[in-house]
Amino acid sequence: DPSVTLATLRRMKTEQSPIVALTAYDYSFARLVDAAGVDVVLVGDSLGMVMQGHASTVPVTLADMAYHTRCVARGLSRAYLMVDLPFLSDTDDRAALESAARLMKEGGADMVKIEAHAAQAPVVEALSRAGVPVCAHFGLRPQRVGQLGGYRIQGRNEDGARQVLEDARALEAAGADVLLVECLSAAVTARVHEQTTLPLIGIGAGVDCDGQILVLQDMLGVTQGRPPRFVHDFLADTGSVQAAVEAYVEAVRNREFPRPEHSFE
Ligand code: KIV
Ligand code: NA
Repeated sequence: DPSVTLATLRRMKTEQSPIVALTAYDYSFARLVDAAGVDVVLVGDSLGMVMQGHASTVPVTLADMAYHTRCVARGLSRAYLMVDLPFLSDTDDRAALESAARLMKEGGADMVKIEAHAAQAPVVEALSRAGVPVCAHFGLRPQRVGQLGGYRIQGRNEDGARQVLEDARALEAAGADVLLVECLSAAVTARVHEQTTLPLIGIGAGVDCDGQILVLQDMLGVTQGRPPRFVHDFLADTGSVQAAVEAYVEAVRNREFPRPEHSFE
C-alpha cells in the first residue's frame, strides 16, 4: 500500500471513509499497528503515563518525545506519523518551531500535534507558515490538568460548548491541517464537525468524527485501574495483540466503534 499522507486523510474525510488512528511508542508495536492497517500512528505524550509511570503528561520532555519518535519511525512503512509537542515545548512561536524541527528532522515525524485553544492560534499559524503540518488538539487538553484540577468532559454547558466551537474555528483559520477532540460531549463534537472542514479525529468524543484514536495500552486492557468509559478492550475479544489491533481497525472502519455507550452526553 502507498504511504498515508495528508492528502490521503483529506480524501478519506471526503469519501466518508473513517480514519483509524492509534498510539505507539516503540519499534515492535509500530510495526504491528502499521501492518494491521492503522492509518495514523501517534507518538502521544501519554507515554509519560503508559511508558514512564508518571501520573500525568506534564513531566514528558522533548527529548523523551524525540527518542520514542525515532523508535516508532523505524517501524512504519505505510502509516502517517503524528507526534505530540509536550507540555511547555510550544509556549511561543520560536519554541514551537524548534520543537517541531527536532521531532521532524531528528525523529521522523510527519506532523506535530499541539494542545491548543483559540488563544494559541498564533503558534499554530507560525508552524503552518513555516510548513509544519499541524494537528490541533482541543476539548480536554490533558497538559492542562494542573489548571483543570482533574480530567473532565468538556463542552457540557452552553459556555463550554461556545468556547470549544470558538477554538475549532480559530485553529482551523490559523492553518491547522487536522483537528483532534478529546472527551467532548457528543453533541458538541457534532457541532464541531458541522462547522469545520478539516479531518476530525476523536477520542471519547462520540461518533460524529472522521476518525477515531485510542491509547494502545487502553485498547489492549493493559492500563491499570478502571478504564475510561470511551475505551474498549479489544484484546479481551480476540486473544492476541495482533488480532486485537486488527479488530480495532475493522471496528473503526465499519463504524462499529465507538458505540453510543462510549460517548458522553
Ligand atoms: O497522548 C496521547 O495519547 C493523545 C491521545 C489521547 C489523543 O494525545
Ligand atoms: Na497527548
